[in-house]
Amino acid sequence: MEGTKKILVINGPNLNLLGTREPEIYGSTTLADINDLLRNRAEKLGVEINFFQSNIEGEIVTQIQKARGVYNFILLNAAAFTHYSIAIRDAISAVNVPVIEIHLSNIHAREEFRHHSVIAPVVMGQICGFGVESYIAALDIAVIKIRRGSKK
Ligand code: DQA
Repeated sequence: MEGTKKILVINGPNLNLLGTREPEIYGSTTLADINDLLRNRAEKLGVEINFFQSNIEGEIVTQIQKARGVYNFILLNAAAFTHYSIAIRDAISAVNVPVIEIHLSNIHAREEFRHHSVIAPVVMGQICGFGVESYIAALDIAVIKIRRGSKK
């Protein structure tokens, strides 16, 4: 993967409703706003960034598969799939593209069923609880890792 480094941001189910969805938990920023912030930051950092959102598990699996050999990093908020999608976990394991797991909320401080992430063991790391800044931090870390040529 020569040339401009590429980052793919994947958002899972119900994140298309950000802005109006339980704002006391997820804030009032829309997904379009988050993507704009990330696009601006990516431009400053000199990386290409692309966005995908789906409410459908299989579509997310397909996007992860297609990222192989194309993207340097995936930033993934798998939303509810985080807690039970073995298919998404297996796709991450299959493709050898480093993934940062993102959550707006602190999943460890919420209901018991959100404490467990089935994807956590196969991602590089998890950032949660910082709202929109979870995404910004993930982008910054991805770029640091890319510059260092490090997948660890
Ligand atoms: C979420 C946390 C998940 O538990 C939840 O199902 C979501 C959003 C977050 O960003 O905080 O949809 O991933």
